[in-house]
Amino acid sequence: FPGQPVPVLDNPVVTECIIRLTFRVVEIFSLDLGGISAIVLNGYDAVKECLVHQSEIFADRPSLPLFKKLTNMGGLLNSKYGRGWTEHRKLAVNTFRIFGYGQRSFEHKISEESIFFLDAIDTYKGRPFDLKHLITNAVSNITNLIIFGERFTYEDTEFQHMIEIFSENIELAASASVFLYNAFPWIGILPFGKHQQLFKNAAEVYDFLHELIERVSENRKPQSPRHFVDAYLDEMDCNENDPESTYSRENLIFSVGELIIAGTETTTNVLRWAVLFMALYPNIQGQVQKEIDLVIGPNKMPALEEKCKMPYTEAVLHEVLRFCNIAPLGIFHATSKDTVVRGYSIPEGTTVITNLYSVHFDEKYWSNPEVFFPERFLDSNGQFVKKDAFVPFSLGRRHCLGEQLARMEMFLFFTSLLQRFHLCFPHGVVPDLKPRLGMTLQPQPYLICAERR
Ligand code: HEM
Repeated sequence: FPGQPVPVLDNPVVTECIIRLTFRVVEIFSLDLGGISAIVLNGYDAVKECLVHQSEIFADRPSLPLFKKLTNMGGLLNSKYGRGWTEHRKLAVNTFRIFGYGQRSFEHKISEESIFFLDAIDTYKGRPFDLKHLITNAVSNITNLIIFGERFTYEDTEFQHMIEIFSENIELAASASVFLYNAFPWIGILPFGKHQQLFKNAAEVYDFLHELIERVSENRKPQSPRHFVDAYLDEMDCNENDPESTYSRENLIFSVGELIIAGTETTTNVLRWAVLFMALYPNIQGQVQKEIDLVIGPNKMPALEEKCKMPYTEAVLHEVLRFCNIAPLGIFHATSKDTVVRGYSIPEGTTVITNLYSVHFDEKYWSNPEVFFPERFLDSNGQFVKKDAFVPFSLGRRHCLGEQLARMEMFLFFTSLLQRFHLCFPHGVVPDLKPRLGMTLQPQPYLICAERR
């Protein structure tokens, strides 16, 4: 419907229209989201043209009332493209390397977490249970090690509650009443509606993180950082005489919150989909297990150096990322200048929706995209092949900064899970495969039996 206003009846309708239907019609079209002027980019060519070839112009974030209210456009993920973003992104990339994947010992820390995770699964002794909470805890602990220098036990209900209400906010952020709030911010004074729940949750998360940051920075030795929080406080100290500095206590809390949720919500859902698909396709599960047994063996913990010898497992994880589209519309971008794309004029300040789902179902680049088929990532010799139109982490300046960490986690958690367990649905009943729509796509709650192999 190029040029036609789309009624914002209910969010799932809008989201479903954007992600499933429109890309079959046009590569680029404009959308009026109740006064917010937006464009939607469909298919690999259009997304690449904007995010890669015009990367600087498309690297901004929209000044939506929701983001303004929650983070005052500070922090990292939602920050405007400028000094604040550059400083926060650089610091996060560096600390993720120093305290995370740049350390050889970090792989062992993920393996240690995998053992806690597998042992917790073992307590169900093959009985049906919902894996969601265990995966969330295990995954968030990897980010926690980098940010706070410590993990939280699976019994820590306070931390779990914080993650729960934070991820509830990811769903609420895409609800109809929050869409309305973005269009008509004055509805914020109404005492009811989902936006009020979202604000309440955000305030609770903020207080929790504030206290946690205070606790983990006790006994800090300046310029000897132990984790992200220390490194941030060091940067604050170094810049204390610069009135333009964007480092502040508030931005520290926003950045910590964004890193935790960006790392947890996404990787957890990839693993939840991967488990679901393994139970759905026992032959694919069997082939992954055959590769694990051959390359790693039954007892040794999986190691990253084995990844290049396991093309089938890699292909399965890639197909899960392609097919399940964890972040179907990425994170909204905005233009920082007037520009032209495919002959269309796009004014400065336009909200840009990158339909990553459409890229993963783009028939120009994928044959039979509607079919779950890991072999599409293998060549005729069974070797893994990269695909250009594989963009789950997006492209350009704002591409996901946790990609490397997420890839490590997915491989190590997934292989150690399938090494120890056979996964199946209770009584062979296949759950509803329709995703839950929100800013991320997650499976509907489902039960799984993990039987010792
Ligand atoms: C499988 C897991 C993951 C997926 C599919 C994923 C996907 C994405 C996507 C699509 C974006 C939007 C990029 C854009 O604006 O164009 C993004 C941004 C981001 N991701 Fe991830 N992500 C994952 C894991 C992680 C992890 C583990 C972290 C860190 C702990 C992380 C941190 C971030 C941050 C901070 C941004 C914002 C970057 C910026 O605005 O400069 N992500 N991610």
